[in-house]
Amino acid sequence: MGIQDCRIVELPKIHEPRGNLTFIEGERHVPFDIKRVYYLYDVPGGAERGGHAHRELQQLIIAMSGSFDVVLDDGTSRRRVHLNRSYQGLYVCSMIWRELDNFSSGSVCMVLASNLYDEADYYRDYEDFIAALPSRY
Ligand code: TYD
Repeated sequence: MGIQDCRIVELPKIHEPRGNLTFIEGERHVPFDIKRVYYLYDVPGGAERGGHAHRELQQLIIAMSGSFDVVLDDGTSRRRVHLNRSYQGLYVCSMIWRELDNFSSGSVCMVLASNLYDEADYYRDYEDFIAALPSRY
């Protein structure tokens, strides 16, 4: 698994004069059963979130409102993804170091997750994360 496995998922969008509607179905629009939803809001200007990787957890990250950047790092490559559409999600597989920054004022970041919160699933130290990656030799 690497950042090439992380991708933008185009979500269904029902466009009407009354407004737009987007829906997400587990195992259909995201490649996992959705076990948890959380969201970041009231993020102060200049703040950074994330700064960790997950052993097992898979996520879909959506800019519900406003915009922010997600930096993905698999220990070999880094990629910055700008999210600003509520009908697009960024799928992040396991064993990816991620950092979120560049939050616009009033932005809301919603995350769909493949499992319940479990602190034991986190790598919060970058060197520990790198050491846990399979050897490339
Ligand atoms: P963390 O995952 O570090 O946030 P972020 O990646 O957005 O910077 O979580 C911040 C705090 O919230 C930490 O103390 C753990 C707690 N938390 C929960 O209790 N449940 C959850 O589902 C999440 C995502 C975090």
